[in-house]
Amino acid sequence: SQRVCIAIDGPAGAGKSTVAKLVAHRLGLLYIDTGAMYRAVTLKALRRGVDLNDAAALTELARATNIQLIPGVRQTVLLDGEDVTEAIRSPEVTRCVSVVAGVAGVREILVDRQRQMAGETDVIMDGRDIGTVVLPHATAKFFLTASAEERARRRAKEMAEKGYTVDITGLIKEIQERDYRDSHRKVSPLVPAADAVILDSSGMTVDEVVNRIISWLEKNQ
Ligand code: C5P
Repeated sequence: SQRVCIAIDGPAGAGKSTVAKLVAHRLGLLYIDTGAMYRAVTLKALRRGVDLNDAAALTELARATNIQLIPGVRQTVLLDGEDVTEAIRSPEVTRCVSVVAGVAGVREILVDRQRQMAGETDVIMDGRDIGTVVLPHATAKFFLTASAEERARRRAKEMAEKGYTVDITGLIKEIQERDYRDSHRKVSPLVPAADAVILDSSGMTVDEVVNRIISWLEKNQ
């Protein structure tokens, strides 16, 4: 029988992970956060002082890295066995991740692993290229977006809760820069798949977005 795989793509801070986790819980799917995988490779590169312009070195690093995503409320991320769940969300990793994610060799390795995970169980996967590259035959594809201002406000709230001091203007700029890099890179740029359902979550609550997705799935499966 065909596995269920639901793709949720969209820009930084659109609420993909929050929404995907809730949909996963309601539908009994495994949630896979592909951004966490790019973040884990980035953290390792920063720690080792790997030159972020050295595509070959980054590709080798990705190949030699073990990343485990442990399902559950906390969504623990293990980097070569070490718990890096918090560390991969640091401002430094966030600033550098889209550079590492722009390396074709790194993407090839991580995309392979993502496809393998989706082959093993029913999943909902969030990222930037899930509907376009990783799972082009996904059961359903959603492209979740929101204005840069709204996304910056949400990120600021999240970061403040974790104890980081945030400057909202700086955050908007950072989000716009990351969007730009993600949308304009040569390999797998952030674009909605032709058959994706586009959802603008500006002004919507998380529950409204989750319900919209679930009712779409009920109507269209
Ligand atoms: O989703 P999150 O913001 O944690 O992703 C971090 C970064 O990883 C993104 O800005 C993007 O550069 C990269 N990414 C990607 N492809 C994915 C998931 C994330 O390029 N499927």
